[in-house]
Amino acid sequence: MSDVCNLAWWQKTIAYEVYPKSFLDTAGQGTGTIAGITARLDYLHSLGVGALWITPCYKSPMVDNGYDVQDYYAIDPSFGTMANMDELIERGREHGIRVVMDLVFNHTSNRCDWFVESSSSRNNDKADWYIWRDAREDGSAPTNWRSIFGGSAWEWCEERGQYYLHTFAKQQPDLNWECPEVRKALFDIANWWANKGVGGFRIDAITYIKKPPAFEDGPIDGEDGLSPIHDATANQAGILDYLHEFKASVRDGRDIFMVGEANGVDAKDLDQWVGDEGVFDMLFEFSHMHVPVGKAEIWCRPVTWKLTDLKRALGASQRATATNGWYPAFFENHDQPRSTVNFFRCDGPLAKKAKVLAAVLLSTRGTPFVYQGEELGYGNATWRSIDEFDDVQTRAQYEFALSEGLDEQAALAACARFSRDNARTPMQWDATRNAGATDGNPWLPVHDDYPTCNVAVQEGDPDSPLLWYRLLAALRTSHTELVAGDWRELLADDERILAFERTLGDRRSVTLANFSDEEAPYDTAVVAGLAPVAESQGPTTAGTLRPLEAVIWG
Ligand code: BGC
Repeated sequence: MSDVCNLAWWQKTIAYEVYPKSFLDTAGQGTGTIAGITARLDYLHSLGVGALWITPCYKSPMVDNGYDVQDYYAIDPSFGTMANMDELIERGREHGIRVVMDLVFNHTSNRCDWFVESSSSRNNDKADWYIWRDAREDGSAPTNWRSIFGGSAWEWCEERGQYYLHTFAKQQPDLNWECPEVRKALFDIANWWANKGVGGFRIDAITYIKKPPAFEDGPIDGEDGLSPIHDATANQAGILDYLHEFKASVRDGRDIFMVGEANGVDAKDLDQWVGDEGVFDMLFEFSHMHVPVGKAEIWCRPVTWKLTDLKRALGASQRATATNGWYPAFFENHDQPRSTVNFFRCDGPLAKKAKVLAAVLLSTRGTPFVYQGEELGYGNATWRSIDEFDDVQTRAQYEFALSEGLDEQAALAACARFSRDNARTPMQWDATRNAGATDGNPWLPVHDDYPTCNVAVQEGDPDSPLLWYRLLAALRTSHTELVAGDWRELLADDERILAFERTLGDRRSVTLANFSDEEAPYDTAVVAGLAPVAESQGPTTAGTLRPLEAVIWG
């Protein structure tokens, strides 16, 4: 059993993810700025936030909105300057909020100096900094791997007369971690940012850094004749050796945390990745995110699922981190559709759904990661045409859907349901033009519902998701078992109610969340001796949850 006093600052706090391009624009340019984040520190503080993960804001051509880094030591001018960043770090600290930088270390931009040099010839100083291979005899790509954003994972480079590998877009060439100079250059970057006083790092796409010893074709799984690169390269033996080196160079001796993004690591393997013997403090694994979309994440191949599938995934992650490591709880991030759509199979008001998810997120064991706007309960946006999307992956999924024989309308529907752009529309601050997010032309359409669903409106509405988040954040302070207590699943086979208890010494809380649009009876024995301490729809009745009702008993 842990005790609150024994926990690190990042285990006790709430983390919040900002997608800076869509947060708040202080320059009238249509895209957000770092100064915009600084201007909203009071707001973040009101949500109990102590760690602020900002997606990449380094100098970048923005093919993948910053995940294609050109210079890790510079801020992209569209976001502001390094002085703005220093000010955010400093002012954040005054608010008890530590900035968490996103390290994109699997790949760089093709405009990064390293790649420009590496691609210029076969015998320059950085010749082996990326993954270069000769063509096959017929001139075709070395393997049939499909990049995560669609199409071949290999791109021909005329200057070198070789192909280079890109797990993501062709403008995002993969670095060669086998090369010691590459590892040193990357660790130097992380140390430079750590020395600025950031509170930690989110490490992007880390499961792809180690390539297999032999590059071989994989089984074809689509009409494009390709095979998913993920199956060939994710989580290869030996990857942890590199990451132990990384931890020793950057993490050891500092009061920071590192959370890895680890698509491809199963809950059962978490103990090698996190905790005393692991390489990170926390790992974002995706078993629960795969429930509504399937592991292959092919949007046009719908999957069917039940609440117990979601409960099994969440339960496995909890059990895997029960005695070793720590869990980063999340239902949304900048790569996912909105959770109010993603995790419900029934109709019903989005605000009620948002409150159900928030009750689970903020009372489960682990550090909750809230994604901007999640606290307001947005749904997905309305997309009328494929041209409205900006996201490189959405366009690729659209093309793939067409190649699979879907018509344009069906391909658009699949993108509208799963596109990452659903999470990237401008933050909804108030009912003024462009939701108060920008005075310029927003880079993505503002969500249709912003006049009624925004921070200003919700601050005045006692039933709003926003005020529910604030209440739950406060509850974590008064009910220490919600932060430090053990976790145990209740009502495991129930297809309507997700339930668990938290215990710390003689303290006990129970969370009951009805994910259905029907009344859901339960045995009152699970809450015996407790009283409701947070009720999402006003006074509750013991023994029954109303449709989409969540209650925490304590
Ligand atoms: C990030 C994505 C990005 C990709 C490539 C991810 O997992 O979260 O937004 O497109 O890595 O860097």
